[in-house]
Order: sequence, then C-alpha cells, then structure tokens
Amino acid sequence: MRQGLHGRPAGIILGPQTNPDCKTDREARMTKPKVYVTRMIPEPGLLLLREHCQVAVNDQDRPLTRAELLANVNDAEGVIGQLTDKIDAGFFEAAARLKGYANYAVGFDNIDVPEASRRGIPVSNTPDVLTQATAELAWALLFAVARRVVETDAFLRSGAWPGWGPLQFLGLDVSGKTLGILGPGRIGQAMALMSKGFGMPVIYHGGSKPALSIEKELGARRVDCDTLLAESDFISIHAPLTPQSRGLFNAAAFAKMKPSAVIVNTARGPIIDENALVAALRNKTIAGAGLDVFEFEPKIAEGLNTLPNAVITPHIGSATRSTRENMALLAARNLLAMMAGATPPTCLNPQVLGKR
Ligand code: DGY
Repeated sequence: MRQGLHGRPAGIILGPQTNPDCKTDREARMTKPKVYVTRMIPEPGLLLLREHCQVAVNDQDRPLTRAELLANVNDAEGVIGQLTDKIDAGFFEAAARLKGYANYAVGFDNIDVPEASRRGIPVSNTPDVLTQATAELAWALLFAVARRVVETDAFLRSGAWPGWGPLQFLGLDVSGKTLGILGPGRIGQAMALMSKGFGMPVIYHGGSKPALSIEKELGARRVDCDTLLAESDFISIHAPLTPQSRGLFNAAAFAKMKPSAVIVNTARGPIIDENALVAALRNKTIAGAGLDVFEFEPKIAEGLNTLPNAVITPHIGSATRSTRENMALLAARNLLAMMAGATPPTCLNPQVLGKR
C-alpha cells in the first residue's frame, strides 16, 4: 500500500484532532474527499470512513431509487453500495469523480466489473468475513425443513396441539444422508465442513478446480451436475449468479432429484426458477426447500408462502451483528485504499490498480 504521512494511506485527509499540517478544522473538513454510502451500515465502518472522508449516508430504511442513486453519487470520490444497487455504465457515468466502489456484499452480480475495469475504476467485495454466518444459516434452513421446525412451531402456537402423538409431524433424517454442494467456494466448503458431526457423505459440483479442503477432510467427491441432482439428499447452493447458473434449478432439474430431497439456497435467488420450485414442492417432486434468497427480491413466487414444506427467510445469510460490522469495516478499508491509489484487501479487478 502506498503510504502517506504517519503510515496512513496517501491521499487521505486526516481528521481535525490529528491534522499534522495544523489546518483548521474547517479547512481539514473541506479538503476531505467525499464518500457516499447508499444504505446505513454498522457504525464501525462509518467511523473509520469519517476519520478520513466527508461521509454522506442514505439514512432512509429503503434502497435508493435509480434516480436517487445517480443524483447522490455525482460528486463522490468513493461509494459503498449494496447488492440492490446496479453498478453499471450509467452509474459510472453519473459518478464522474469516482476513484473506487466498495460492495457491501460478497456477491457482486450487481456490478459490471468489466465496465469498471474498462474505466480504470477499482471495485471490491466482502469475502471471508461472512463465510461462517452464511454457512450456519444454510444449516439452520436445512434442519428447519428436515424437522419441520417452522410448521410445527406455527401449529403449537395455534393452540391445536392435542398432545404427543406417534405419527405426528414425521420429518427427514439428516445424519448419514448425502450432502450435495453446488459451488464449492469459501461458503460452500465451510457449509460442507460443518457436516462432519453428522457423518454425511459429501459430493460437490462446480468450481474451476478441485475443492481440496473438503476432499481431504471429508473425502468429498467432485461430480457432474446430473450426479449431484440424482444422488443428493440435501443440496445446498453456494454458487455465484452467472449466466451459467441462472435458472439452473428448473423443472427438468427437480425431476432428476430424489422425491425425498431438500434444496437450500443462501446464494442468489435467480439460480432457482421459483415458479418451477413451487410446482415441484406442491407436486412432491422434491420434499422441501429452505430459501434465504429469491428470484425477484423482495417479491416471492405466488404460492410459496403457503407451502408447509418451504422455509423462507428474508436474505439474512450474513445478518449477525459481528458479521455485518466486519463487512462494514472491510468495505471501508477497501474504499479508503482504493481512493488512496493503494491495494485494497479484497479487490475484484486488481489489474486496474496503479494505472490511473
Ligand atoms: C452477500 O454478501 O452477497 C449476501 O448476499 C448479503 O450479505
């Protein structure tokens, strides 16, 4: 990282208390670069940014409209944005002074990375810090579906429970069943590693190279897509959204799965054709689904909310307090480095660094 005075990133204006050039508070504030944050993020990230920048935040509890987004970034040198913001040519056009864009998410299908690179603008995401939290939610959904946790909770609350019964609410075994991972990246591998206590054979599909950690630790087998569909008792989706993965789980794919199989998605909604999933759950083509992400968020497919064999949560994979704070800190560190022309911790297009 290119360093300025006192070991801080070069080009970043210091806060008034530590201003080494003895500028007045007002002068220091005036010369700080402008940063826009498209949605309120946890305080530690904002505090770090405010040490070095003038920070404006969308403090409404909703995503910005496209027009609002473009209007608010027009004088920003750095932007922290969300997976709901489309970061494309129009955005870069509007943000003419931009030196870096930091996504507050690991997924980056909302960013046109080639377009950013063409314009020489570095962009970043937040990998690693949310791996465990997201993998844990995948397990929560898997168990909630297998053991009918949400359905039985609602039943008990309704006051209709007559007392214990030998045939009530029979669910699915998890231990010893085959776990299939689509997308053996950081989160997919972490989810698979958590299966250790349940003695599950693990198979996986995807990735550009073998997933050595789960092959070594669990004896996981790399298989083709049809084998994943046919052999898995539980399939957990951890692949990025790409033209190849979009709509991968459609009627034809569900037909290749076991009727007792459960699908879990904590990655991106459009990997599943949601209307086809509703039909598959209704017709018992597969046994259940645990979904944290949806094809057209925040809308969900018609009928999904009435199916007892679906457990649905509102995109909360990374939503633990400490994970979200760490995401905010990582996004802030990325942005400060990019604005200083230095190397950010997790850059998506490092080839543009140092070229401006
Ligand atoms: C991500 O980071 O991509 C999640 O979907 C939200 O935290």
